[in-house]
Amino acid sequence: MQSDERPCALVILAAGQGTRMNSDLPKVLHPLGGAPLVVHAMDAGAALAAERTVVVVGHGGALVEKAVRAHDEDAICVTQSEQLGTGHAVLQAAPALDGFEGDVIVLYGDTPFICEDTLARMLAARADHDIVVLGFEAAEPGRYGRLVMEGDRLARIVEAKDATPDELAITLCNSGLMAADATTLIALLAKVGNDNASGEYYLTDVPAIAATKGLTATAVTCDEAETLGINTRAELAGAEALFQRRKRAEVLDGGVTMTAPDTVFFAYDSWIGRDVVIEPHVVFGPGVTVENEATIRAFSHLEGCHLGARTIVGPYARLRPGAELGNDARIGNFVEVKAAEIGEGAKVNHLSYIGDAEIGEGSNIGAGTITCNYDGVFKHRTTVGRDVFIGSNTMLVAPVTVGNGAMTGSGSVITRDVPAGDMALGRAKQVNKTGLGARLMARLRAMKAEKKGQ
Ligand code: UD1
Ligand code: MG
Repeated sequence: MQSDERPCALVILAAGQGTRMNSDLPKVLHPLGGAPLVVHAMDAGAALAAERTVVVVGHGGALVEKAVRAHDEDAICVTQSEQLGTGHAVLQAAPALDGFEGDVIVLYGDTPFICEDTLARMLAARADHDIVVLGFEAAEPGRYGRLVMEGDRLARIVEAKDATPDELAITLCNSGLMAADATTLIALLAKVGNDNASGEYYLTDVPAIAATKGLTATAVTCDEAETLGINTRAELAGAEALFQRRKRAEVLDGGVTMTAPDTVFFAYDSWIGRDVVIEPHVVFGPGVTVENEATIRAFSHLEGCHLGARTIVGPYARLRPGAELGNDARIGNFVEVKAAEIGEGAKVNHLSYIGDAEIGEGSNIGAGTITCNYDGVFKHRTTVGRDVFIGSNTMLVAPVTVGNGAMTGSGSVITRDVPAGDMALGRAKQVNKTGLGARLMARLRAMKAEKKGQ
C-alpha cells in the first residue's frame, strides 16, 4: 500500500502528570543521562528526519514546552488541557498536522529506550497494513493492553481493565506506539468513544475501528526492555542504570579504554573519540566531546566542554560549560575551567580557576592562578597571549590582557594590561633584614623554655 519513503511526523504524548513520581517537576522532564525523558523520545525518531514533531503537553505544559523547544526549536507543542485518554491526546495534534501528508508515529514521552531501527521497521510494515502497532512479549502482562492477533493481522487491542480472562491470558502486549497515515489516523480517532472501564478515549480502539472500514492493522514486535516506561523514581533509577550500561558498552566498542567502566557516568550526547583513556570515577554532564587519544584522569567532572586530541585532564579536574581545550593542552588537579579557550599545548596544571578567558598556545599558567572574572555584578574577560608564563598565584583581575611572550611574577595581582614580552610584577617589594631571622628564632625558643620551667 504505502512505501516507507513517505514523509513522517512524530506525535509524542507528554500530557500526563506522573503522580507516582511524587514530584513538582512534570514526569517527562526528569532527566535520564542528562536529558529530559521527553528529549529521548524526540531523539528516537531523529534518524527518520521527521518532517514535524508534535508534542502533546498538559501538566506543567509551559515547562515541558520550554524543554522541548530548547532541544528542537521547530517542534510544535499542543495542549491537552484535560487528560481524557491517549486517543483524545493524539487528536489534539490534528491542527498541528494540518496539511501534512505522510505517516505519523505516536510515541510516549516517558518511554525513552525506543530504537530508531524499531521505528523504521514500523514504517516498513506500513507497506502492507494501514495501522502498525508496536508490541512486545511481556514477562508480566499485568495492566498492559493485549494484542488480539488473527494471523499477522491485529484484530483489536483490549485494555486489561476491559479484558475477559481469555484475553488476559495473552502475553503479546501493547507498547503504546502506533504508526499510520496521518489523515487516516485522525479520521479514525474521531470515531473513538469513551464507553469503557476508564471512561477514557483510547488510542487502542483504532485497530478495531479500522477493521470496520476495511482497513488492516498489524503488530511489529520489539524487546520488552525497549518499551520500558518510567512511572516512579525507582524506575527512573533503574532506567539510568540501564542507560549507563548501554552507553559504556557503546563507548568501549568505539575504542575507548576504561579501567573501571562501572564508575564512569555518561550523558546522552557524550562523544568520545578513539584511543581515549578514561580513568575511574569520571562524570560527564551533557555536551561533552573528546577527541582521539585524550586522557581523562580519575575523579574529574566535565560538562559542556570540548577536549582536543591528546589532551590530559585531571585527576580531580572540573571542566564547566564553554571550556574548549586545544590539542595537547593539559588541565591538572583541582583546576576549574569555565567559558575559556585553552590554546594548543597550553598548561594549567595545579589549583587554578580559569573563567571567561582565552589562554594562547603554549602558555603556562602557574599553580594557584585565578582569573578574577566577577566584580559582584558583571563578568569580565581575561586574555592571555601565546607562550606566556603566568607565575604561581597570580590574580588576573579582569578585564585584562597579557601579551604574547610576557611573564608575571608569582603572587602578582595584575590589574593592568601587560604588553607583549614584558614582565609584570604586582606585589610588595621584598626586603631582607640582615640576621633578623636567626635572632628572632633564638628569642622565641628562649621564651618557650622559660614557660616550660614555670
Ligand atoms: C497505555 C495503553 C496500553 C499500553 C500501555 C503501555 C491506552 C488506552 N492504553 O496504557 O494499551 O499497554 O499504555 O504503557 O492507550 N497521556 C496523555 N494524555 C492522556 C492520557 C495519557 O498525554 O489523556 C500520555 C501519558 O502521559 C503517557 C501516555 O500517554 O505518557 C500513556 O498514558 P497512560 O495513562 O500511562 O496509559 P496506560 O494506562 O499505561
Ligand atoms: Mg502507562
